[in-house]
Amino acid sequence: MIDPTSVDYDGLIPNNVGLNADPRLRRALESWHPSCLDWWKARGPEGFQANLVYLRTAISVEPEGWAKFGYVKMPEYRWGILLAPAILDRRVPFGAHKGEPAWQEVPGEYRAMLRRLIVVQGDTEPASVEQQRYLGRTAPSLYDLRNLFQVNVEEARHLWAMVYLLQKYFGRDGREEAEDLLRRNSGDQDSPRLLGAFNETTPDWLAFFMFTFFTDRDGKMQLHALAQSGFDPLSRTCRFMLTEEAHHMFVGQSGVGRIIERTCAAMRDAGIDDPTDIARVRAQGVIDLPTLQKRANLHFSLTLDLFGNEISTNAANAFNAGLKGRFLEDQIPDDHLLIGATYTVPRLRDGRIVEEEAPALSALNIRLRDDYVADAASAVERWWNRIIARAGFGYRLSLPHVAFNRRIGEFATIDADPDGNILSAPEWQRRRGAFLPSPDDDAFVASLMQPVTEPGAFASWIAPPRAGIDGKPGDFEYVRLRNG
Ligand SMILES: [Fe+2]
Ligand SMILES: [Fe+2]
Repeated sequence: MIDPTSVDYDGLIPNNVGLNADPRLRRALESWHPSCLDWWKARGPEGFQANLVYLRTAISVEPEGWAKFGYVKMPEYRWGILLAPAILDRRVPFGAHKGEPAWQEVPGEYRAMLRRLIVVQGDTEPASVEQQRYLGRTAPSLYDLRNLFQVNVEEARHLWAMVYLLQKYFGRDGREEAEDLLRRNSGDQDSPRLLGAFNETTPDWLAFFMFTFFTDRDGKMQLHALAQSGFDPLSRTCRFMLTEEAHHMFVGQSGVGRIIERTCAAMRDAGIDDPTDIARVRAQGVIDLPTLQKRANLHFSLTLDLFGNEISTNAANAFNAGLKGRFLEDQIPDDHLLIGATYTVPRLRDGRIVEEEAPALSALNIRLRDDYVADAASAVERWWNRIIARAGFGYRLSLPHVAFNRRIGEFATIDADPDGNILSAPEWQRRRGAFLPSPDDDAFVASLMQPVTEPGAFASWIAPPRAGIDGKPGDFEYVRLRNG
């Protein structure tokens, strides 16, 4: 009998899925393992592979005490396969099969749709590791360097989680998909990652923090929607992944928060009252707030594209099939069928943005996007604007309108400013640099990216964190750059 809350650490692959009792699956995973390590070495963090990093490893799936901390060389990290504990007598929570016992095997009629959902989620996991590959060179502190690597190893574990589902439940085509997850490469001309935002570059640490704030938050929403799935192994996998995702967002929230804190302190010290006096602020060696706003505009709008088209039959089908639910589906007080229900969707009509009622089933992408926007907006207030207000500056960071800078969906064909006013093409060209980072802005941020490797020291443009990882003191050596 497998104890589903403690992890079997004996074999090559720590797991709570009874791998020892399933030799066929174990062989498939063990033969995928070397390919994954090759991928990690070729496209994961550049350098630092031989250094000891103070990392968190999952050792249980209990909400409390599921992780232990210790020094590990990244290629020796224990990438486990961990499912949240099964819920007794769980039922399909929504859609046409609502109330039937949750599926423990793939429902045959939905095999292709389910495989696609898993592949799309799986593809994002290694993509962000590839995007962040070179950031180790310019880390603003050992604390931040360690957080980057923690995020990276956990994204690789999420890849493992999806590969487990493919190999266990989808036979030969699952194994082929698992290989393809390592074959595609972020930004590659010939075989790019499946979704646009995962082919963008992450050129500097501000981009990393914005990515973990905005794009990992999309990950959170998608995982929540999949955690509701009637396919129980997917639900349990995603439920456990969410515990790790929370840390990724913490890295982004607190990372940008610490930049804001440092900028405000530098403005105060220099007697600068106007946060938009960019030249004077930058002369202090810190990142001005308007540049943070432009970066937020960029990452937010790129991330909105991940939610897909406003009106989507795929989303409706996945819901009807009981495969992908809504954010916190089990807490929504309705019939969970959505037959005949409507939802308000922003549409483009005769060159204007209007609100329209659409069938709720077809509008599920937008509903998830709305939940995302609300979640992100409250995090901007809580984590960022509070710091600016406390420092006494009359400046607020905000999220742009959903029509701003879009490549996918209803607003891909127009240009809009961050308030949602539609602009002519020449006007957009003229004012673009006020909304999105200009080459000068990016060059300034790049100029600050000098590595700081002394334990306890931080780059000029970012404040130290309030507390260390795992209660460690400020000068703790999170990454041992000199081993031995
Ligand atoms: Fe992930
Ligand atoms: Fe993540």
